[in-house]
Amino acid sequence: MPAVPDHPVSAMADDAAALPSWCIDANGLRTALSTGPARDWMVEVIEETGSTNADLTQACRTADWSEQARVRVAYRQTAGRGRQGRPWQGQAGLTFSVAMPLALAPAQLSGLSLAVGLALAEALEDCDAALGARVGLKWPNDLQIDGRKLAGILIESVPAGPRRVWAVIGIGLNLVRDARMEAALGRELAGVAEALPGFLPSRDPTRILGAVLDRLAAMRLAFLETGFAPMAPRWSARDAFRDEPVRLLHDGALLAEGLARGVDGDGHLLLETAEGLQRIASGEVSLRGAAA
Ligand code: BTN
Repeated sequence: MPAVPDHPVSAMADDAAALPSWCIDANGLRTALSTGPARDWMVEVIEETGSTNADLTQACRTADWSEQARVRVAYRQTAGRGRQGRPWQGQAGLTFSVAMPLALAPAQLSGLSLAVGLALAEALEDCDAALGARVGLKWPNDLQIDGRKLAGILIESVPAGPRRVWAVIGIGLNLVRDARMEAALGRELAGVAEALPGFLPSRDPTRILGAVLDRLAAMRLAFLETGFAPMAPRWSARDAFRDEPVRLLHDGALLAEGLARGVDGDGHLLLETAEGLQRIASGEVSLRGAAA
């Protein structure tokens, strides 16, 4: 895959509604990454694709094993994928995927999706403390501001041999609130710009992407070493529903309800129910605040 192009890809187009009004500054990104843990990662920025996750999962099926992660950023996706088979439409956001090589067995991947959410939240904190303070985590791996979705994460895995897997980590991070999207979804969303003082479209998407890639690269090394368990307290400290009543749904049906008590070292949600403490694995389960 080609690395970041020499010149920034312009996201400005005649159809301003379809492409974002910001762009990634390829030189700025390369400089930002040059000394951090993601310095060897290959990054490409493209104008449009179906789904960056689909592109990278496909590429990983035939890729030679390497320790180098690959990043694909698209200004527009025509068939973006969300969790639980849902579509993802996020024209007002940064949409990208990372194909991350992990020399681990499938059983050692538990908690990875939470680790990614935590890395994303901590990257936003790196960019701006006030922004970081407003971002909460919704189990298993959404980011929120004041109960409104800021980012979603979809992880797909491609086996590459014994104890080798490509984790294709797809991230959709809303940069600005998109009224059309909110109307289409029938709910309010959050955007980085509302919580980042002086948000500059010419500067901040590049800065944010650089910070996220560095945090993901650091998370990868830590995860390979010790898994999610040492990160669990940091995740629980950012839990948007900590000690609040929640309901867990599967296909819209109520599965369990109780008080959210953070997560364990495998990334399971700790739910205090009338029957006692339950550990919930993420799978196809959705969490809702009891008031929702
Ligand atoms: C969710 O449902 O909350 C997860 C959404 C993940 C969306 C991102 S956008 C970049 C990457 N490519 C995709 O097709 N999906 C992920």
